[in-house]
Amino acid sequence: MNKFVFRNPTKLIFGKDQLQRLPKELAGYGKKVLLVYGGGSIKRNGLYDSLIKLLNENDFEVVEMGGVEPNPRLSTAKRGADLCKQHDVDVILAAGGGSVIDCTKLIASAAKYDGDPWDLVTGKARPKEALPFGTILTLTATSSEMNAGSVITNEETQEKYGWGGPFNYPKFSILDPTYTLTVPMDQTVNGIVDTMSHIFEQYFHVTDNTPFQDEMCEAALRSVMDIGGRLVEDPNNLELRESMMLAGVWGLNGFLSMGTRGDWGTHDIEHAVSAVYDIPHAGGLAILFPHWMKQTFPRNPKRYVRLATNVFGVDPTDKSDEEIAMEGIDRLSAFWKQIGAPVSLADYEIDDSKLELIAQKAAVKGPLGGYAKLSEDEVLTLLKASL
Ligand code: NZQ
Ligand code: ZN
Repeated sequence: MNKFVFRNPTKLIFGKDQLQRLPKELAGYGKKVLLVYGGGSIKRNGLYDSLIKLLNENDFEVVEMGGVEPNPRLSTAKRGADLCKQHDVDVILAAGGGSVIDCTKLIASAAKYDGDPWDLVTGKARPKEALPFGTILTLTATSSEMNAGSVITNEETQEKYGWGGPFNYPKFSILDPTYTLTVPMDQTVNGIVDTMSHIFEQYFHVTDNTPFQDEMCEAALRSVMDIGGRLVEDPNNLELRESMMLAGVWGLNGFLSMGTRGDWGTHDIEHAVSAVYDIPHAGGLAILFPHWMKQTFPRNPKRYVRLATNVFGVDPTDKSDEEIAMEGIDRLSAFWKQIGAPVSLADYEIDDSKLELIAQKAAVKGPLGGYAKLSEDEVLTLLKASL
């Protein structure tokens, strides 16, 4: 196991009607709130009205910023930072999915930074301070509500990168599964795929002596497949939404990867795909991950045998390691297909014309992945297999 220090300062407030705690959680950060949200889902499901009522009743002054797009853009974060400076905002409240929260993270740091906010994403500059922010999660997928990650698209240069740091942890996150009942089926499926992908990225590591971490990942994968499989059949089931919401937080809040360092190459490649084609993050992952697994199988066949038997229930009797592994990967593909995830880049009308460009963007910092380092050429092979 690797040495580590673990600290996750986000206060998690989970369950039905927990929104009522919002004024208490905001108290202490000031009275002027920037409310950040997306394209309007919070207006359609009643969250917006409840929020405004609560904030007004408790004498908060609200500055609004809607319109954060899926795959949030640098220009949108700049707009938010400008609003914070202009109105002297004390605290930010993000109400939405991962995109709204990721955008809020950049707004919070950019509001206290005089240079180009893109510097904070690329690492050219490090935030020295940031505005405090809390979140109200409406879509389960990224765990951005309880991690320090943020993924931003520079629409001018067609680059999409993740960045992070201590200021990116929300002060608090309120997770009421009731607000996820309106998530449409495609985004519900995306949440299941993204959560499973986060666990895969952590499960594929090269650290020795990690029996506890590995078993936790396997149990989490089995559970997400069970909950997710039932949820797509019964999307109005609040208990399933609640369970999926907790699984989504655990997928990437750091608990599964204590003492290990995962791969994350597939995420980097997917970010390059959606930088160029603006497709949903998890849709890209559903297409790429099975191919990544097949391509990286030779690097550690036993890992795949273990995944196939412990997670996908493959019977290993009289089979070679490769047969067991491939059966496991095929079961993963079948599960994702069955719940309605895309299977090839063609599902997004992506052809081979920009694959070189995508591979180049993905490998811009050199070979990628902590478990299976892929060169630009290997990324291109993977992309071609995914067509
Ligand atoms: O914009 P609105 O109108 O709110 O609609 C959104 C959006 O169209 C809708 N939605 C959200 N909650 C809803 C709802 N519709 C109905 N009812 C609700 N309750 O869903 C659509 C997608 O939302 P988005 O926030 O984009 O989805 P997600 O949470 O999957 O976030 C994706 C972004 O997160 C990044 C991805 O790359 C992508 O940019 N990631 C962030 C990570 C992190 N911060 O740690 C890690 C992830 O691996 C990922 O890369
Ligand atoms: Zn992801």
